[in-house]
Amino acid sequence: MLNTIHPAEVPVYGRLQLQPESGTGCTIVAADGRRFLDLYGGHAVAVSGHCHPRVVAAIREQAERLVFYSNAVPLESRDRVFTLLAEMAPAPLDQAFLVNSGAETNDVALQLARRVTSRRRVVTIEGGFHGRTLATLAVSGIHHYRDLAERSGGQSLLDLTVVAPWGRPEVLPALIDETIAAVIVEPVQGLAGARDIGAGTLKTIRRACDDAGAVLIFDEVQCGCGRTGAFTAAQRHGVTPDVLTLAKGIAAGLPMGAVLVSPRVAKHVAQGDLGTTFGGGPIPCASAAANLEVIRDEDLPGRARHLERRLRQGLADLPAVKEITGLGLLLGLVFDRPARPVQLALFERGILVGSANDPSIIRLLPPLVLTDDEVDTFVHTMHEVLS
Ligand SMILES: Cc1ncc(COP(=O)(O)O)c(C=O)c1O
Repeated sequence: MLNTIHPAEVPVYGRLQLQPESGTGCTIVAADGRRFLDLYGGHAVAVSGHCHPRVVAAIREQAERLVFYSNAVPLESRDRVFTLLAEMAPAPLDQAFLVNSGAETNDVALQLARRVTSRRRVVTIEGGFHGRTLATLAVSGIHHYRDLAERSGGQSLLDLTVVAPWGRPEVLPALIDETIAAVIVEPVQGLAGARDIGAGTLKTIRRACDDAGAVLIFDEVQCGCGRTGAFTAAQRHGVTPDVLTLAKGIAAGLPMGAVLVSPRVAKHVAQGDLGTTFGGGPIPCASAAANLEVIRDEDLPGRARHLERRLRQGLADLPAVKEITGLGLLLGLVFDRPARPVQLALFERGILVGSANDPSIIRLLPPLVLTDDEVDTFVHTMHEVLS
């Protein structure tokens, strides 16, 4: 048995009995020699697969020249990231601010929305998860995280949050009134179990935000960077927010988050209004630039659409699976029973999958470079496990 929590570590994580030694594509090799098909993608991070050669070369090349310098200087790799994001994200989200994590992107997005509108209240959607800073915990649509915010001194932020019910678009226009600074939405909810909010509801929210003068924030920390079958779910669904946040999949595993903003928001930001030491550093930017080029050059969003079809077809007739939710390669398998034994049986057979806040759901968030054969292996193993 591996000792998964070090005695000198704060014990906040439940860990798998697996110590990864190396990875390539969708395969992880453990220190004890076991090989795993990774449909969890290091928590949706490994969009271009583990150790894509172009990413590894870019990190190595940058590290050999300069490990770090701050935002006090211009950097070629940082400028490449800005150019690629402006090219790949939907217009008019053509300016970005770089930070270090998903929570930080959403914290910045909420700050900006409040400054732009001079309002305080935020509408969030039941089931949404936006990170673990105090401000982002307070806008979670999951009770557990709002409870953490309350116990951490965040009552005043919780009092400013309105949680809209899931699946009731008709109530949204009345909730999004002229007291609302922002509506924060995960277009495809991750932790809730891969739930696609859908183009229709996003359009309703966009319209209500326009009518009320509220800022619309899409949290694409998990569903962005090609996973839903377009670079952003905003593009897949044809609805553009005022602020869009990216993180997990952007830099292939180096810490980075990006807050993309429209001119309406950007014009309220003056020099010194935001800042970070590590955000936009040379190595994460070199990695992100290479990774974004791979997403573009290998058409990974197209691959996500193809693989979604193949997975849905292969899993359609599994009797224990009531429904397959989600979009692209952020999919939820909803079981008629607890999903944990299925997850463990897959682990025993060398396949990693994710769980969700709902214990009857298995979440698939694999690298987008998954092959057709790997999909077939998973489908075959699922039939075996459930027979
Ligand atoms: C949708 C979403 N937003 C925000 C976050 C927080 O990102 P991070 O853990 O990088 O702070 C996550 C992380 O799981 C997420 O899935």
